[in-house]
Amino acid sequence: MICAQQPRTRLVHLPTPLEAAPRLSDALGVDLWIKREDLAGLCVGGNKSRLLEFVLGSLRTTGVDTLIAHAARQSNKLRDIAAAAARCGMQAVLLIPADDEADHEAPQGNRLLFDILGADVRVVPAGLDHGAVLALQEDVRAELAARGRRPAILDRALDYGVDATIAYVDAAEELVGQFAALGGAPHSVFIAVGAGMTVAGLALGLKHLGAPTQVVGVCVAGTAADLDATIRHHAARAAERLGIATQLEAGDVVLVDDYAATGYGVLTPALTAVIHRFAREHGVVLDPVYNAKVALALTERAAVGQVPAGAKVVMFNTGGTPAIYQYAAGLAGTLE
Ligand SMILES: Cc1ncc(COP(=O)(O)O)c(C=O)c1O
Repeated sequence: MICAQQPRTRLVHLPTPLEAAPRLSDALGVDLWIKREDLAGLCVGGNKSRLLEFVLGSLRTTGVDTLIAHAARQSNKLRDIAAAAARCGMQAVLLIPADDEADHEAPQGNRLLFDILGADVRVVPAGLDHGAVLALQEDVRAELAARGRRPAILDRALDYGVDATIAYVDAAEELVGQFAALGGAPHSVFIAVGAGMTVAGLALGLKHLGAPTQVVGVCVAGTAADLDATIRHHAARAAERLGIATQLEAGDVVLVDDYAATGYGVLTPALTAVIHRFAREHGVVLDPVYNAKVALALTERAAVGQVPAGAKVVMFNTGGTPAIYQYAAGLAGTLE
């Protein structure tokens, strides 16, 4: 086990299911399997649920009792930090950017879950760059420490980023084991790319294990050129912590940024159609921000032969389903 020596707090149900999707396979012309990270548990599942096992494992040994993080108001990361804090008897302090319209609406989706889970939610200025976000989190950490708390900041630039990457090295090993039991490795895996930690860990783990599987990262924002270097940086930090020599090189992850251009979290007709298709041909509800873009990329690449006909392909469903409630107007009532 590559990650066996890493501190870990058990929070989720592993291994997550690996489901055959025969109706979608027939429709897409590939042998599709869905890795149901969205069923991991904790609160509603997803990639953030899995990675918090490593984050909390590291932090609990240091006596931390308060978790501070900044992200979007519909963030899956913040929801799972709130859930993990609740599970472990800690306080979550969540910083979300101001939004004139949403600040006056009843909370919904993940933002509602922050409240239900008992987080201390603070609205902060919108549009801050990453340096300003780090400084703001540090101010909150100092304020809480002065009140006797033992706070830690969960930010991708800090240990959180390493733990998040390591968690998907672990997921890679889990996947390889599942396919070994079934017989035959997959041709490719498709997974969403936001900040890039998840895909970095998955690709690093598969490469370290010698799996003959291509990793296709579907960017939800940003450009492939920028994200490629970021992903290799995440992988290098994780490899260093794990004490392994494997490194990611340019080209180890096939980055697809064609679906980033429509905008982060913007629901297009093509995304609506693919959400409906996966729901109606497999019963899985994909989130519009991350996994609908992955499903669309997979569908379109299979249609033009970029995935060979009949090839065994895995789609990681990394969760995020609470976001659908924010898109009710676009997703409802469009029966073809
Ligand atoms: C549902 C979901 N999938 C995928 C990702 C992408 O993970 P990463 O930021 O590690 O690329 C995120 C990140 O927020 C997410 O919430």
